[in-house]
Amino acid sequence: MADWQIRSMTSGDIPAVLAIEAQAHDFPWSHGNFEDGLVSGYYMVVLEKAGTVSGYGVVQIILDEGHLLNITITPQLHGQGLGRELLLHLMDYARHRTDTLFLEVRPSNNRAIALYQTAGFNEIGLRRNYYPSRNGGREDALLMALAF
Ligand SMILES: CC(C)(COP(=O)(O)OP(=O)(O)OC[C@H]1O[C@@H](n2cnc3c(N)ncnc32)[C@H](O)[C@@H]1OP(=O)(O)O)[C@@H](O)C(=O)NCCC(=O)NCCS
Repeated sequence: MADWQIRSMTSGDIPAVLAIEAQAHDFPWSHGNFEDGLVSGYYMVVLEKAGTVSGYGVVQIILDEGHLLNITITPQLHGQGLGRELLLHLMDYARHRTDTLFLEVRPSNNRAIALYQTAGFNEIGLRRNYYPSRNGGREDALLMALAF
């Protein structure tokens, strides 16, 4: 993580964030989704080095529950430990404010599931037909939780 920094996201970061979002997700968040998160006071951070944003994360706190809504690393930098560093940062934020951190993940997203499991998350359920899928249908979501 040498030279990498995690700092608060601002609306000025959204164009760079959207460029990564479009590469990393089949169904990317919109500009409005990120703006709404900032306006709503979600915890939103970017991971950057030398002024270049290469990842970001979003956590929503509702009473004593945290929800990890987005965690993304630019595809060219996958597999170098950046996602884990960002997740640990977001877990640390949630740990001080909530009892449990929840997330949804596509059952096909093996890389993300492996990361969450090794960080201590457990599968606690399935949300049927939660996500749109590439073939025009729907895909279930695994619901995972980390109790602090
Ligand atoms: C999920 C994501 C954030 C992980 O970021 P990353 O920087 O690639 O992850 P890391 O390098 O920190 O690796 C963390 C763990 O992921 C798993 N992992 C990494 N590369 C993997 C691969 N090729 N296959 C399977 N698991 C892999 C391993 O468990 C790894 O831990 P380890 O290195 O201790 O074995 C990143 O892949 C991403 O942005 N994906 C697209 C967006 C996305 O799916 N977000 C999550 C939505 S729920």
